[in-house]
Amino acid sequence: QGKTYQFKLVLLGESAVGKSSLVTRFVKDHFDEYRESTIGAAFLAQTITLDDSTTVKFEIWDTAGQERYKSLAPMYYRGASCAVVVYDITQTSSLDKAKSWVDELHRQADPDIVIALCGNKTDLEARRAIDTKAAQEYADEAGLLFFETSAKTAHNVNELFTAIAKRMPLE
Ligand code: GTP
Ligand code: MG
Repeated sequence: QGKTYQFKLVLLGESAVGKSSLVTRFVKDHFDEYRESTIGAAFLAQTITLDDSTTVKFEIWDTAGQERYKSLAPMYYRGASCAVVVYDITQTSSLDKAKSWVDELHRQADPDIVIALCGNKTDLEARRAIDTKAAQEYADEAGLLFFETSAKTAHNVNELFTAIAKRMPLE
């Protein structure tokens, strides 16, 4: 007779960094090479069992990264307990965009929000443009969890969501 805790989680980041792919990997353990860009936002839910007595259910809002949807984001991060801010390790601009989302969350979201920075597409190591150490240092300074993932190979995807679950207030 364990307890289930529910949290609203929002994914933010530039278009094409792999937000929908990360959620699809986490929820369905599946990857599409040709995924369509999200329109507005998509909702999915997934539970993680931490131990015999603790289950965490994430209610996930996968937002659209295209600039034209930017004004919708506050609807999704408002009231969110946690956020995953995603960039693509092969695209320098995507880390700048991720940092601007972190700033916006720190200004406008719940002050207790748990934020994870996620560098996605580690399977494209040969095209890496963003150094792991630099991103880790930024994450440490900003007080963020930090993971590098691949939605394609599933590298670190469950670890990312499990680390967030463990960071949530469970009492
Ligand atoms: P928007 O919905 O427009 O904001 O984009 P998004 O961040 O949801 O990106 P999406 O998941 O649609 O992925 C964009 C493209 O990157 C797709 O062609 C994916 O197949 C590809 N992709 C996503 N994750 C990975 C990954 O880990 N590795 C590789 N090689 N490709 C990936
Ligand atoms: Mg998407």
